[in-house]
Amino acid sequence: MEYHNPVLLKETVDGLNIKPDGVYVDVTFGGGGHSKEILRRLGPNGKLFAFDQDEDALANALADERFVLINENFRYIKRFLRFHGVRSVDGILGDLGVSSHQFDVPERGFSTRFDAELDMRMSQKNDLDAYKVVNEYDDASLRRVFYDYGELKNAPALSRTIIEARLHRPIKTTDELKDALAKYLPEKVRNKVLAQIYQAIRIEVNQEMDVLKEFLEQSLEILNPGGRLSVISYHSLEDRLVKRFMKNGMFEGEPERDFFGNYSVPFKLIGKLIIPNEEEIKINNRARSAKLRIAEKI
Ligand SMILES: C[S@@+](CC[C@H](N)C(=O)[O-])C[C@H]1O[C@@H](n2cnc3c(N)ncnc32)[C@H](O)[C@@H]1O
Repeated sequence: MEYHNPVLLKETVDGLNIKPDGVYVDVTFGGGGHSKEILRRLGPNGKLFAFDQDEDALANALADERFVLINENFRYIKRFLRFHGVRSVDGILGDLGVSSHQFDVPERGFSTRFDAELDMRMSQKNDLDAYKVVNEYDDASLRRVFYDYGELKNAPALSRTIIEARLHRPIKTTDELKDALAKYLPEKVRNKVLAQIYQAIRIEVNQEMDVLKEFLEQSLEILNPGGRLSVISYHSLEDRLVKRFMKNGMFEGEPERDFFGNYSVPFKLIGKLIIPNEEEIKINNRARSAKLRIAEKI
């Protein structure tokens, strides 16, 4: 089975405006689709660093002298680039979220299609997993996860139901979780609600919102002036953070005004929001929720 079919491949790499001698970073290597395209456009003196926190992605490493794959979380992008002697870069690409491989391997627990132990860790080194979230979080914490990350209005009821169910015995598998929540999963909305529940737990397990914020802030620090940031997100929570950060250089509030009363912002937005066309969605269903934003450091 194919590891991952890259989404908005041309558009995302076009967004980097690649200079043949430049230094680039692909923070979500996965199957390496975007990385291969970056390398194709780089000259012999160009350099590409890639990150993926999933050990499985290491098997896709590219045999190319210009390429280095780092098996770490991109929340540490600055630290690990510095370890490789790199303090500034010309472009950073992020294709957020989960790979098709992660969805397709039942034991990883990401897919609503299979029964599996509650896991959902993108990195095998992660301490927190879905079992701990479901079985050890208190009512307030579970509610927050479902409400904030799943945008589930009935978060309090879901949380209470899980807490009651696990009083009898731990909830060990995704099927046991589905059984415990069965009354909130009527046939008509089952898939949609399950997707929201899974998304919420996955975001919590991988701390995706905090990680994204830390990554965006460090990207701004390490990009050279004129350097590009090209980011694909797959749900509105991610996209909101990316959009605000590219527009204002911050996640909340308004940027400061300069001496002349103009907002002082760190990025110039490049083009408008890009989404895949129908043709791409037809051949790659994972592309359906993709949103690409591109910005250039001023
Ligand atoms: C959507 S896939 C990327 C696919 C890739 N662009 C391709 O063409 O094959 C996302 C990948 O990023 C990795 N990932 C997600 N969040 C990460 C993080 N915080 N740090 C490092 N890797 C991460 C996942 O393990 C996954 O392999």
